[in-house]
Amino acid sequence: MKKELGVKPYLYPMPTYMIGTYNEDDSVDVMMMAWGGICAEDMVALNLEEDHKTVANLKARKAFTLAVPGTDTIRESDYLGLVSGNKFPDKFDLTGLHAEKSSRVDAPVITEYPLTLECEVVEMQEQPYGLRVLGKIVNVLAEETVLDEKGKVDAAKLNAFAFDQMRNGYYALGEKIGQAWNIGAPLLKK
Ligand SMILES: Cc1cc2nc3c(=O)[nH]c(=O)nc-3n(C[C@H](O)[C@H](O)[C@H](O)COP(=O)(O)O)c2cc1C
Repeated sequence: MKKELGVKPYLYPMPTYMIGTYNEDDSVDVMMMAWGGICAEDMVALNLEEDHKTVANLKARKAFTLAVPGTDTIRESDYLGLVSGNKFPDKFDLTGLHAEKSSRVDAPVITEYPLTLECEVVEMQEQPYGLRVLGKIVNVLAEETVLDEKGKVDAAKLNAFAFDQMRNGYYALGEKIGQAWNIGAPLLKK
């Protein structure tokens, strides 16, 4: 039997993405984000709270990186979602993670994250229900270790993890259980 739970932002799995930006002194800020993702072939949408340091940085620099963290950096990545650059300008340095400047956009690429989208801010939509940032993907960077023999990103090798908004858990992702647009095909014949 189904129970009514009311109005809640309950979807699962939610992604865990890391938004990298530069502060005004060129130091690095990174925050964890779950409310966003791909919204067009070459576009991402980020739903952000206005008071984040990341938002000030996006307004100033018009660029960001969006990375998928692996389980090997889960502690650092969670911390980057706990602490604001407004209060702790050196929050990124305290993680011990490393960054270098993107060659395409004015934003940092975090060394330890295996998959990174380099993005330019296209639009910042200040709406009554929150701020939405639209970013154009200008390039994707992937560690060789997460590529398959054909040079495609192998999702299983990312060791990514999902966010559970109902009980605030993180869940490991990885096992492939089917081929999309394929495993259901036998039902077409019915
Ligand atoms: C699992 C998780 C998911 C989060 N998702 C979002 C999100 O989608 N949007 C958002 O504005 N903040 C989100 N946050 C909160 C920010 O990461 C957090 O407030 C961070 O300190 C902001 O950093 P900044 O002020 O340095 O930009 C999330 C935090 C966690 C731990």
